[in-house]
This record gives sequence, C-alpha cells and structure tokens, in this order.
Amino acid sequence: MLQLENLSLKDGSSMPRLGLGTWFLGEQFRYQSRELQAVKRGLEQGIRMIDTAEMYGDGGAETIVGKAIQDADRAQLYLVSKVYPHNASEGKIAKSCTETLERLGTKYLDLYLLHWRGGVPLQETVEGMEALIARGKIKRWGVSNFDLADMEALFSVKGGDKCAVNQVMYHLGSRGIEHSLLPWMKAHGVALMAYSPLAQGGTLKKELVSNPVILSVCARNRINFHQLMLLFALRDPQTAAIPRTSNPAHVDDLIKGLYVTLSNEDWARLDEAFPPPDKKVPLDVI
Ligand SMILES: NC(=O)c1ccc[n+]([C@@H]2O[C@H](COP(=O)([O-])OP(=O)(O)OC[C@H]3O[C@@H](n4cnc5c(N)ncnc54)[C@H](OP(=O)(O)O)[C@@H]3O)[C@@H](O)[C@H]2O)c1
Repeated sequence: MLQLENLSLKDGSSMPRLGLGTWFLGEQFRYQSRELQAVKRGLEQGIRMIDTAEMYGDGGAETIVGKAIQDADRAQLYLVSKVYPHNASEGKIAKSCTETLERLGTKYLDLYLLHWRGGVPLQETVEGMEALIARGKIKRWGVSNFDLADMEALFSVKGGDKCAVNQVMYHLGSRGIEHSLLPWMKAHGVALMAYSPLAQGGTLKKELVSNPVILSVCARNRINFHQLMLLFALRDPQTAAIPRTSNPAHVDDLIKGLYVTLSNEDWARLDEAFPPPDKKVPLDVI
C-alpha cells in the first residue's frame, strides 16, 4: 500500500497529503452505485482523507461518503467538508455543520472549511468555527478560495490566525499561487490543499493534454496525463491534493502513478514549459 508522509498543521496535528474529491458526486441516482464503489476503492487503497461540501449534490455527495465510510474505523479517516458562505454566520453555521455530520454519519469533522468568502463578516465565521471546536463538532477549520488579500483580512480579525488550511485551485497549468499567496501561507503556517489537481481531467486547460512536453515526460516515465498531474500537485511535501474520480479503476490508476519518481531533468522541463508567474496574478477559481 502506498505510504505518503502526512503534513504537519499549525495546531501540531497531522493531515494526510492525499484525499478524494467528491464534487459532482451524488447528483444523479444512476451513477451513485459506481461513485460509492469509487470512494470505497479509495479507502481500500489506503486513502484516508475525503473532501466534500454541503454544496456538492445538495448534500448528496456527503450522503455517498457517509455510506462509503459506514464500516470504516473513524479514527483512521480524515473528513473535510465545507460550509456555504451564506451559512457561515453565527446563527446558521451550527445547523449546517450538524446536517453535514448527519449525512456523513459521524460525530465530528477533522476539518471544516468556509467554501469561499461571502458577505458574512469574517469575525463572525471565525467565532462560529471556534464554537464548533469547543462543542467537539470539528477538530479545526480553514478556508477555501481565499486570495492573498482575503487571507490578510482573515488574519486581521481576532482568532483568524487559527486558520489551518486554504483549499485553492493548484495544478501544473495553474501556478499563480506560487508567486505570493503560497509564500504568505507558508510564512503563516496555513497549509495548501490543492483542488482540481487534475485540471478536471484536462478540461480546465485543454492545451495541457496535448502539450508536447507533458506527452514526452509521460512517455519517458510510462505514466498518463492524470498520473503526471497528481505527481505535480504533490511535489511539494507541504501540499495536500484531492483528486476526484467516480471510477474505481481510475483510483487504482492514480495510486499506481504515485510510485513513479520523476527525474530533476523532467521537473525542469515541466517548469520551463509551465513556469510560475513572475508577478501576482488573481487566484484561479472555478
Ligand atoms: N473549494 C472549492 O471551491 C473546490 C473547487 C473545485 C474542486 N474542489 C474539490 O477538489 C476536488 C477535485 O477537483 P475537481 O473535481 O474539480 O477535478 P479534478 O480532480 O482535477 O479532476 C476530476 C476529473 O478527472 C477525471 N479523472 C480522475 N482520475 C482519472 C484517471 N485516472 N483517468 C482518467 N480520468 C481521470 C475524473 O473523471 P472520472 O470520474 O471518469 O475518473 C474527473 O472528470 C473536487 O472533487 C472537490 O472535492 C473544491
């Protein structure tokens, strides 16, 4: 079974570096059996972290995850979910969290994220998150889709510096965060969880799948596009990534690719073809 080191969070805990994404799961009944099998396959393959959200399938993704983990040892799992910005107020966040826990069939989340910054004052969300920790409903909290100015605003409110993770888009074709957001996060102990690490199978940036440098690196290492994308997302040992698949065979495929080590020359070729920007660019969001 694949062994990936965990990464350390600022509260002294550790978080798995590889998780399963669940966006689009639970949306259509006819796919649910296969989606369930895919999540179960991930667990069988040793993936312990699952990323979900109340938004995904309107709770349907959390329900599928709940079914997939019902016989698992909860202590071995790392469950991450996200609250809608409009539910991240003092009056609503506890209800959202309770409903998420019910759908997942668990007593607590390992990590609860604000899905993106909305109109609720950050101070209120921070207090809501801290109250959930005090009640044992979540172990820690973080944010998602926060750019540099959002992080600075968060850290300017009382308790905002307790934010453990920022989940943002990061893949070989989207390296904007490397210029200023990621260095800031590292300096402030906020871990990166890379979403859309496969660029949604290449559909977010179609030129990636036919890029000659990617094709040659894949051919030399006998890996496919998706495997290469995941290797890139996990290249920095302080980064976590949450690829999504609703196909059990693709779970195996992704894991298999993680046994490959790219040479420094191949990394240099990829860096040359897909360099990080030399100035601040807006955060990529979906
Ligand atoms: N916080 C946010 O705002 C936010 C935004 C986006 C995503 N996320 C999180 O990040 C997760 C991952 O991002 P994502 O869902 O955008 O996309 P992704 O993981 O970059 O790509 C998913 C796509 O890759 C395909 N795929 C996966 N493994 C494959 C393989 N081995 N061979 C061929 N195709 C493969 C999947 O198709 P198959 O199902 O056919 O395998 C799917 O179409 C989400 O599910 C979600 O949990 C968070």
